[in-house]
Amino acid sequence: MNFKEKLTHWYSANKRSLPWRKTKNPYHIWLSEIILQQTQIKQGLPYYEAFVKEFPSIFELAKANEQEVLKLWQGLGYYSRARNLHFTAKYIANELKGVFPNNYKGLLQLKGIGDYTASAIASICFDEPTAVVDGNVYRVLARHFGIHTPINSTKGIKEFKELATTLMDQSNPGDYNQAIMEFGARQCKPQNPDCSACPLNNSCVALQSKTIGELPVKLKKVKVSKKHFNFLVLISSKGETTFKKRTGKGIWQNLYQFPLIETDKPLTASSFKTNPLVQEYFKGSDFEFSLYNKDTIIHKLSHQNLHTKFWVVEIDQLPEEGIPIVDLKQFPTPILIGNFLEEFRFPL
Ligand code: ADE
Repeated sequence: MNFKEKLTHWYSANKRSLPWRKTKNPYHIWLSEIILQQTQIKQGLPYYEAFVKEFPSIFELAKANEQEVLKLWQGLGYYSRARNLHFTAKYIANELKGVFPNNYKGLLQLKGIGDYTASAIASICFDEPTAVVDGNVYRVLARHFGIHTPINSTKGIKEFKELATTLMDQSNPGDYNQAIMEFGARQCKPQNPDCSACPLNNSCVALQSKTIGELPVKLKKVKVSKKHFNFLVLISSKGETTFKKRTGKGIWQNLYQFPLIETDKPLTASSFKTNPLVQEYFKGSDFEFSLYNKDTIIHKLSHQNLHTKFWVVEIDQLPEEGIPIVDLKQFPTPILIGNFLEEFRFPL
C-alpha cells in the first residue's frame, strides 16, 4: 500500500462517527469547518449541534441578528469568524439564492473562506481534488517526508500545499482530506506519538532519523511593540541644547540623543504642556514649543516600531546641562536623530 492507501485504510478503521461526516450539505460542512478552526472536535461538537438546531439552513442563519450568532459562538473566541459566517450566510441566501459556489475558486471569493475552508468544502461536498493543509497535515507531512522548511514561511506554505496536492486521492478527495487531518490529530500527535502502532512507520523519515520532536519547524514570529517617542529639541537663549549619552543596554547604547519622553499614547500639541512627564521635566519653567514633524516618523526596529515626534522648545534656561548647538554634529547618534539633525535648521 502507498501513502494515501495506508491513510485512507487507517481512516476507515479509526474514524469517529460525527454528524458532519454523514452529509455533503455545504452549509453543514462549512459550519463544521469554521468551528473546527477554533477548537478540537470534542469541544466543537456541541457548538455545531447548537448552530444546526438554531439555524437548520443557511436562510435561518441569514435571518438571525448578529447578536444571536455571537451568543451561540460565545466561548469559541475570535469573534470575527462568527461575524464573517453571518455575513457570508446573508450573501449566499440573498445574492446567490441560497446556493453555495460548487468549486474551490468560487468558494474562495467568499468572506471568511480562505484556502483551507475552500479546499475542505470543495473536496468534501463537490469531490474536487483540492488538498487541505491544516496544522495536522503540516505535522504529518513534515515528519513523514522529513521536511524542515518552516511551515509558516512563504516557501513552506507553497511547498506543503504542493506536496499535499500530489499525494491526495483524486477519486475520493473528501475522505482523503479528512483521513490525513484525523490521522494527524489522533495518531501523529504533536507530543509523544505512539510510532510503534503507526501504519506509516516504516516509511517515516523523521522516525528513522529521530527527528519526530523537531518537526514540523515553525518560525518564531517576533512580537513588534509600538512605542511613542517624544524628543525635546531644546533651544536656550544662549544657543545651547541638551544632548545626552544613552546609558543602559540596547542597540543605542552610548549614542547621543535629545531628552526623551516616552508616552503610552501619542502626545499632541494640545496635551503637550499638561502632560505629567513634560511638566516634571520642565519643573514649572515657562517655554514656547512647536511640533517639528506634523507626520509622525515611524522608525522600525526588529522588535519595536518607534512612533517619533520632535518637539522644538525655546526656553530661557535649560533644565539640565547643555552643549553649544554648533557642536551637535560631533556626537554619534542613532540614525533617527541623525536624520533630524540633517534636516532641521536651528535658529542661530
Ligand atoms: N479537523 C478539521 N476538520 C476536520 C475534518 N473534516 N476531519 C478531521 N479533522 C478535521
